[in-house]
Amino acid sequence: MSQSSQFNQRVVLVTGGTKGIGRGIAEAFLGAGARVVVCARSAPEQLPVSGEARAEFATCDVRDADAVRELIAQITSRHGRLDVLINNAGVAAGGFPPVGPEHSTGEVPLDTLRRVYETNFFAPVALTQTLLPLIRKSPAGRIVNLSSILGSLALHADPKSPIYQAKSFAYDASKTALNAFTIHLAYELRDTPIKVNSAHPGWVKTDMGGDSAPMELSEGAKTSAALATLPADGPTGGFFHLGQPLPW
Ligand SMILES: NC(=O)c1ccc[n+]([C@@H]2O[C@H](COP(=O)([O-])OP(=O)(O)OC[C@H]3O[C@@H](n4cnc5c(N)ncnc54)[C@H](OP(=O)(O)O)[C@@H]3O)[C@@H](O)[C@H]2O)c1
Repeated sequence: MSQSSQFNQRVVLVTGGTKGIGRGIAEAFLGAGARVVVCARSAPEQLPVSGEARAEFATCDVRDADAVRELIAQITSRHGRLDVLINNAGVAAGGFPPVGPEHSTGEVPLDTLRRVYETNFFAPVALTQTLLPLIRKSPAGRIVNLSSILGSLALHADPKSPIYQAKSFAYDASKTALNAFTIHLAYELRDTPIKVNSAHPGWVKTDMGGDSAPMELSEGAKTSAALATLPADGPTGGFFHLGQPLPW
């Protein structure tokens, strides 16, 4: 994103923007002159920064309806609208590498399935629904759902695909459900300027991705930043990684 981009002064919310990929996304937008709000359950030691620009922080567990209402009141009173919503906050089912009952389809406890769905599916759906009136006030609203290639049913079903053996049922299914939300919401908003897309960031070095991941945060932020700054004739209702469509 360049300083002269049409997205200067856009109001951007990145859930889970305090660390990992969300932090990379927040810093990319700050660098392009946007006003960036990040939220997470715990305050970071240092907020996302770029030059002199610093993100605003709100403590907000995205699963908590009261905390979400407070966050929205903060954005409404300070900014009056929301141009970009990045539904980035997410959790894995268990540790990495994905071995053990937490990742097993036959053994995963239903509590784990519910816990992962709460953050990765129900929370972004509820947050987006609550924020839609504010996003409708934007001339070019953009919603990006941080999915994963692991949410692709087509690739999981293909023995030749690189993810065929990388199965963690709770996490993967939660991202498949999030992809369904992308398609359905994009359809519902098809006659508005708002675009809704799913992003696979790549395998990124974060607390979730682990140290062996090949991509740095700035690289991992690129797909979401591109989808959040799509021009008016750009796609909606798609699933992308670095400009390439992924199979659902
Ligand atoms: N890393 C990868 O290789 C990779 C690959 C594909 C997709 N993804 C997706 O990309 C997104 C970001 O992943 P990441 O690797 O950057 O994860 P991460 O390093 O674990 O960071 C997750 C962020 O989400 C916040 N968060 C978690 N639960 C939350 C909640 N209930 N309410 C508010 N904030 C919450 C965390 O802060 P607090 O703990 O303080 O709340 C943190 O800021 C996730 O959706 C993930 O599924 C990651």
